Amino acid sequence: MDLKGKDLLKLFDFTPDEILYLIDMAADLKAKKKRGEATLYHPGKNIALIFEKTSTRTRCSFEVAANDLGMHTTFLDPSASQIGKKESIADTARVLGRLYDGIEYRGFDQSIVEEIARYADVPVWNGLTNQFHPTQVLADALTIREKFDRIKGIRLTYMGDARYNMGNSLMVLCSKLGMHFTACTCRKYFPDPEIVEECKKLCLQSGGSVTLTEDTDQGVKDADVVYTDVWVSMGEPDQIWEERIHDLLPYQVNAALMEKAGKDAVFMHCLPAFHDLNTTTGKQISEKFGLNELEVTDEVFESARSVVFDEAENRMHTIKAVMNATL
Ligand code: CP
Ligand code: NVA
Repeated sequence: MDLKGKDLLKLFDFTPDEILYLIDMAADLKAKKKRGEATLYHPGKNIALIFEKTSTRTRCSFEVAANDLGMHTTFLDPSASQIGKKESIADTARVLGRLYDGIEYRGFDQSIVEEIARYADVPVWNGLTNQFHPTQVLADALTIREKFDRIKGIRLTYMGDARYNMGNSLMVLCSKLGMHFTACTCRKYFPDPEIVEECKKLCLQSGGSVTLTEDTDQGVKDADVVYTDVWVSMGEPDQIWEERIHDLLPYQVNAALMEKAGKDAVFMHCLPAFHDLNTTTGKQISEKFGLNELEVTDEVFESARSVVFDEAENRMHTIKAVMNATL
């Protein structure tokens, strides 16, 4: 398997074997890290990390992984670069492509990261766009394999806003790897029909399936994984909170919902999560709408079924695999 020079923009661009190869490599790199073995496979290389939206996990994972591979990083936040304001995406990509061995981009529309990849002659990695979050779902696949010892045939139910980056990316992951994906939410938040159609075609090959349902009983029945994400994503206006809470509260992941899932079901979330009042946003929402927890209750978040911090750790190991394989 040779992925050198390949961009990671969305999982649609990867074959199932390529995805499994990255997951295997991540597991191997994780084992090496736990044993304290050095993995300085790319000494002296330099990578640029462009973040037009905030981040904890993705940024830190790229930085730690790069360091573990012997590389240096430059972090560019929106205020510290000319990107899109004084310099076009295409020009920026051509400049950074001359200076760096790889470029990570987190931002808004998928077309931006695709444009960077078109103009930069080095691997470009999508660190989250409005449409896709591929490095997150690679970490999720590794986590699922660690918990269930298999990926194919796993039933994953996504609760909440299934039209956005996480819903889309999980649906593609499941369709590629033969998992059963269910979006359980009100119709308005069902994923884009075009992406659903593409995924259904992939399922014909992989043995996976895609189901969209508004019914929570049907949605989580026999689920191995119950997954959710924030109801309002980065870049969306604060005014939509009221509508989202109204629409998505019936799809909150709480103890009663987890009871209806498979008996060994785990809870997953890409994080950050609103499960208590220990955040500024959490407090503001609570004052305005009288809710102390949103997409997931604190009870489920803190329960033995919750594997959210394994997912968070696996971000680093999978991002390391992506860089190692493509550089
Ligand atoms: N899950 C995730 O991408 O987290 P950050 O926004 O902290 O990078
Ligand atoms: N849907 C979320 C994912 C965060 C990792 C967002 O885009 O803000």
